[in-house]
This record gives sequence, C-alpha cells and structure tokens, in this order.
Amino acid sequence: MALWAGRFKKAEDERVNDFNSSIRFDFRMYRYDIQGSIAHATMLARQGIIEQGECDRIIEGLNGILHDIESGALELDPAAEDVHMFVEAELTRRIGDAGKRLHTARSRNDQVALDIRMYLRDECDAVIGLLRQLAGVLCDQAEGHLETVMPGYTHLQRAQPITFAHHLMAYGQMLLRDTGRIRDAKARMNVLPLGSGALAGTTYPLDRPLVAGLLGFDGISANSLDGVSDRDFCVEFASALSLVMVHLSRFSEEIVMWCSWEFKFIELDDAFATGSSIMPQKKNPDITELVRGKSGRVFGDLMGLLTMLKGLPLAYNKDMQEDKEAIFDAVDTVKLCISTMIPMIETMKVRPERMRAAAAEGFINATDCADYLVKQGMPFRDAYKITGGLVAYCIDNHKTLETLTLDEYRAASPVFGPDVYDAINLETCVKGRKVPGGPAPEAVAACIAQTRAALASL
Ligand code: ARG
Repeated sequence: MALWAGRFKKAEDERVNDFNSSIRFDFRMYRYDIQGSIAHATMLARQGIIEQGECDRIIEGLNGILHDIESGALELDPAAEDVHMFVEAELTRRIGDAGKRLHTARSRNDQVALDIRMYLRDECDAVIGLLRQLAGVLCDQAEGHLETVMPGYTHLQRAQPITFAHHLMAYGQMLLRDTGRIRDAKARMNVLPLGSGALAGTTYPLDRPLVAGLLGFDGISANSLDGVSDRDFCVEFASALSLVMVHLSRFSEEIVMWCSWEFKFIELDDAFATGSSIMPQKKNPDITELVRGKSGRVFGDLMGLLTMLKGLPLAYNKDMQEDKEAIFDAVDTVKLCISTMIPMIETMKVRPERMRAAAAEGFINATDCADYLVKQGMPFRDAYKITGGLVAYCIDNHKTLETLTLDEYRAASPVFGPDVYDAINLETCVKGRKVPGGPAPEAVAACIAQTRAALASL
C-alpha cells in the first residue's frame, strides 16, 4: 500500500511502481540518508518539535538499520520506491509511532538533495585521492627518466627533442588541474539544502545552521526553490570528471601507440596486458583502449544530465531522479579507470634506447641547427631557410644533420664551424632548453618537485 493511499482510490499499477522506483540505484546512498535523518531528528528535538525520547528512539532505530544493512542482515526491499521511503518504513516497522515523526518539516525533495550532495562530496574526495596517487606514480616514473631523450611531436610528426620525464609530467599538470576542478565543485555542492521542504520551506522553527554543522556543510542554501531543484553540482562534477577522462584518454591513446611495434617505446607488464584468442604473438593494451572507450560513457553522462535539466520548470520534477544513474556511472567509471591505470603505469617498462633511436631520425634538431646560425648573428628567417635546405640535402643523400661533413655544412653557409656538431647533439639540445617549464633535466626536476608539493597539500 502506497504511502499516499489516503488520497487515491486505486492501488498503484505494478508497472508504475517499477517504473517510478529508484531504489535499485539510490540504495547506495543509505548511509547518508541515515546520517541526514539522525541530524534532522536531533535538531527537531532541540527545537522542541519532537520529544527528546522520540528522538532517542529514532536515532537508535536508524543506527540499528545502518548496522543491519552493513552486516547484510537487512536487504533492500525492491517494492520500496526509493531509499528514503525504505529507511523510513523500516524505522517505523521497528520503533512504531516515533518513526512516523521523523519526516516532520522535511520532504523527500530536500532529503534527496541532501543525500546526493553528501554522497558526491565524499566521492569528490575519493576521486581526488586516486588522482593524487596516479600523479604520484607519474612523478616516480618521470624521476627515472629525466635524461631519457625522446622525440616530442606535433601533428604526430617528430618535432623537437624532449625527455620521457617531460612528457609524463605534462599529464601530471593536467591531473593537478583536474583535482582543482573537483575541489571547486565540491566547495559549491557543500551547502545544506535541508529545510527547503518540498519547495517552499516550512513553518516549523528549524535550526538549519545546526544541521549544517552536524553534517559538515559549509553553509545553508539561501533559496528553498533552488535548494531542491538544481543539480548544477552534478553537472559540474560530471564536467570535471569528463575532463579527467579526456586526459586519461589522450594518455591511453599514447600508450596504445607506444606499445605498437612501430614505436615500442614502452612495454606493459604482462599482468596489465591481454593476449589474443587466435594470434599467439599478440600482447594487447586492452586496458588503455577501454579507458579511451569509457571516456565516451562519461561524456554521455554529462550530456544526459544537462539535457535532463534544461527544460525543467522550478522546482522539483521527477525527471531529476535521472541524475543519479548518470552521475554515479560517471564517478564509478572514472574511479575504475584511474585505479587500473595506477598499477599499470607503475609497472610499465620504458625503452629508452627505442626513444633515443626515434629521436635520432626525423631531424628533430633542425631548429637547434637554425638557432646555431642565429647565435652567430644570422637573422632567424635566413637561418631557417639554410637549415631547410640542409634537411632536403640530407633526405636526398640519406644523411642526417649529425653525419653531414663540415664541408657540406660550409657549402650551405660559411658561418658553420666545427662546434655545430655539439649544438645539434640531441642531449645538448635537451639540456639547453632549461627555460622554466622546458625539458632540460633540471627544469623537469623542478616541475616534479612542484607537482609533488602540490599533491602533498591536496
Ligand atoms: N527518488 C526521488 C528522486 O530521486 C526522491 C524524491 C521524490 N520526490 C517526489 N516528490 N517524488 O528524485
């Protein structure tokens, strides 16, 4: 029998109940629902809205429910419409009339807005914790490769020499910004909506700041319509999570490439790769492909949330129940991806000799050759043109800038001297780029130190 049977002449059709029900996916918020109810009851008693004895029975009953859910003694009832109804009905079943007083001055609309904020703010911390671990693993790997020269790319064409450490730490910076975005989203979601009632507040003399304090909120919502009807905090979190996935997906794409025979810059540990059911030689980077693929799910969750919200008149509408599967899926997916990537990055083997060999081909020191001429006083555009001519000459004659003779250099410009060979040496090229943020080992070491300090203060 539905809670609202008094108003209705017919029982709910079973199909409607199944359709309306959210307990399958909102049950995971039970702990927050119970914590919120305990704080609400505590405040109701302090304000003299319910009796202290009733409050005590409510709290004892709720703690018992929490205990029994966690021990497995109490299972969700699929017939209950949602986690809020389930907990309240179970409470009343256990403690009788006092249980019926819990919902005084509260609506499921402000209750669900509360639960989801409490659930998600913890998930914000969980994702930040995982990002912190992943960025830490990147720092560890980078520390071992400060001098590992590899080609840096633009347009996937070999462009200029960098180091593997420099490349990894680019992702370190992205992950740091990701943590900042999630922290910002958390700060805006950490406002207590309870007290908004169904939409128009309540006539009871509630002490909202007290409840906010009990539940660890930074403040209380300032408008009851807004308190129950926006889910912008879900959108913000999903958007920050989408950017996490963009970063993980780009990194994954690079790992897929680096594992190919064409690159062979790295090799994944056997425990983090998969074989083929037919091709005995295969070792596939499935994990990274799945991360790349799962990014689509998270973007889809974000789009789902935006679309669900955009046409809703104030205040609560049932459409908003759809927020949960989307944001839960986004959070679950991101946590799963990061958790799997952490040990994969930790255990991957780097092939410095393959990176160095790739760096030796493709004329990635051509800019440095032009810069050499500039340092002798030549205007950059002239130096650029002469070097371009030398590269074309090398291609025609199967040479590299390193194997050109001094005579060949001098034929292009008399400005060249024997010190050009040091100027175009790849190690020299990398070490010379010591501008802050550059790939020189000392600059990258500074970046790692800055990243580690930022991670420690998260
Ligand atoms: N299960 C609902 C949700 O997730 C709870 C709020 C229901 N409120 C209502 N008036 N139908 O949004």
